[in-house]
Amino acid sequence: MAFAVQAVVGIDVGTTAVKAMLIGSDGGVLAEAEIEHPVSVPRPGWSEQNPEDWWQSTILAVRKTLQLADRGDLGIEVAALGLSGQMHSSVFLDRKGEVIRPAILWNDTRTTDQCRLIQDRVGLDTLRRTVGNPPLEGFTAPKLLWLRECEPDSYSRLSALLLPKDYIRYRLSREYATEPSDAAGTLLYDVHSRVWSEQILEALELESTILPNIIESVDISGIITAEAAAEIGVQPGIPIVGGGADNPAGAVGSGAIDTNVMQVSIGTSGAVFLPSGEANIEQSMSLHTFCHCAPNLWYLMGVVLSAGSSLRWLRDTLAPGQSYDSLTAEAEQIPIGSDGLLFLPYLTGERTPHSDANARGVLFGLSFAHGRGHLARAVIEGVSFALRDSLELMRQQGASPNEVRAIGGGARSQMWLQTLANVFGLPITTVRPQGGAAYGAALMAAVGCGMFTSIEDAVKSCVSAEAAAEPDTTDAAEYNELYDAHRRLYPALKEEFASLADLTAMKR
Ligand code: XUL
Repeated sequence: MAFAVQAVVGIDVGTTAVKAMLIGSDGGVLAEAEIEHPVSVPRPGWSEQNPEDWWQSTILAVRKTLQLADRGDLGIEVAALGLSGQMHSSVFLDRKGEVIRPAILWNDTRTTDQCRLIQDRVGLDTLRRTVGNPPLEGFTAPKLLWLRECEPDSYSRLSALLLPKDYIRYRLSREYATEPSDAAGTLLYDVHSRVWSEQILEALELESTILPNIIESVDISGIITAEAAAEIGVQPGIPIVGGGADNPAGAVGSGAIDTNVMQVSIGTSGAVFLPSGEANIEQSMSLHTFCHCAPNLWYLMGVVLSAGSSLRWLRDTLAPGQSYDSLTAEAEQIPIGSDGLLFLPYLTGERTPHSDANARGVLFGLSFAHGRGHLARAVIEGVSFALRDSLELMRQQGASPNEVRAIGGGARSQMWLQTLANVFGLPITTVRPQGGAAYGAALMAAVGCGMFTSIEDAVKSCVSAEAAAEPDTTDAAEYNELYDAHRRLYPALKEEFASLADLTAMKR
């Protein structure tokens, strides 16, 4: 069969699903597909996944996109595959490349003791000068130390540590590799000089041999094996391109590669993201500073651990089988402020701004007058307030965005976009195409195989933003007052969260 359509595939290994996107050489979307996989929560605050599930979802998602794009006698020639995935989550492999135990995910908060150890051994000043971030439970290095301390048998078999998208790279090409944007989230990578930090590895007595090679996000890491090509349904010999961690890959997909373009994402987690021309790390390190996918570009980010996942939890608990659209339609009927109901979305602790693994979700102000629509609205408002916490930290750093680009599942809801516009007091735009991290990964694959000259060139040729929601002056003023109430709630409960965590630990 003569190949007629040149295309690339972007694969995003998300927490709820693997998403694959097939795009043409002009950046147009030919097909996309999502295959879900489970998360296991063996204890409150823990979060694990089986890497084999990611691989099975990848096979099905790529196969489905190819089927959807099939145009009969016109074949599709896949020129490259690009990868993206959840950040920080740790895949532990033995000498034979077999998975040793389930992956410990980015939203798992079991590693508070290991974070303390890192801070004691390395010190905050050295952390700031090297990895650019404080030790936080979700990051990779504390997970590695947890394995050493709590599962020494597993640790003794450890030969390689990979991030989720790089595990898929390994299954596709048998190569161990990563790139700066995902390496930065490990807390073992020097974000200034963009190399693994020998100083941190030494201080923590970790072997550098377990870490993968680093290539650039648009470089080719290897070639798909014949076996993997047959499994995912593509022709053999296709190059695999570096790609990027989901937040920066999403930013490539939305065009947030410029210091003026702020992005907000609402997926399982939520993030406020601002590119930066330097790794300019503020004293308190209250925002994350990581490497972007383009060389010479970094970004600041604040992360809400349970954003879309808070609404998912509410739906699965109170409205199983109902669509998000019908739930947000119920929320839309409720007045601003949910008739006196506030929600703190800390279902698995919180990263920005509190860095508190003990924090838990709160519905504050419940009364007999509240029904399911109130709860749904309070969740959407509470997540939006939590995202504003990160926006305010960025404003303190001097950021004054004119517009914020929204991506992720939440960006598909007009009600959520309007709430964000009113809570942020800023216009919100969405992007075309709306593919998030999978689209960003596909664009990087397109650069890697020569369809575009650079990430900037690909973004300029393929991505555009369009107006989605403007703040309403009256509603925004009302939200300002409610935001103050939101801000006061966590400090009032901080000690109580810690006591409750102690009580719960004693019972175990
Ligand atoms: C970022 C983070 C999350 C995950 C979600 O630091 O932990 O946004 O990347 O996949």
